[in-house]
Amino acid sequence: MDSVTELLNLALQCRNNAYAPYSRFKVGAAIRCANDKIFGGCNVENVSYPCGTCAEAGAISAMVAGGCTEIAEILIVADTENILPCGNCLQKIAEFGNADTLIHSADLNGRIRTYTLQQLLPHVFNAKEVTNA
Ligand code: THU
Repeated sequence: MDSVTELLNLALQCRNNAYAPYSRFKVGAAIRCANDKIFGGCNVENVSYPCGTCAEAGAISAMVAGGCTEIAEILIVADTENILPCGNCLQKIAEFGNADTLIHSADLNGRIRTYTLQQLLPHVFNAKEVTNA
């Protein structure tokens, strides 16, 4: 199985568990880290709408909890033609990725479109100015 198919399968599995009773728009995500481990997530909505979290955020939390902090590629799947991470999630991906990080957008028919983070977020907020790291 190729690496993107493996991400798609995990993202689909996670999407099945998405908690989206308000939008009814289920999303799944899966990340491959630089060390080749994979982690998944789904959107988790809340009756207080702004408390809801995106699938990408869930996958990133699982990744960090699993001890990884470098995203090589992330796949997002939903029942739409070209699901893309929201601006908030692009910033979250940028924290753990770089210009070449791959972002795959999949639909339920398995059609995949691939972008780089550079393409989707060409001008990223850079933390260098606000940290002493
Ligand atoms: N959503 C995601 O999980 N990821 C995206 O990339 C876009 C939107 C979720 C948030 C909300 O639960 C639902 O999709 C509708 O916006």
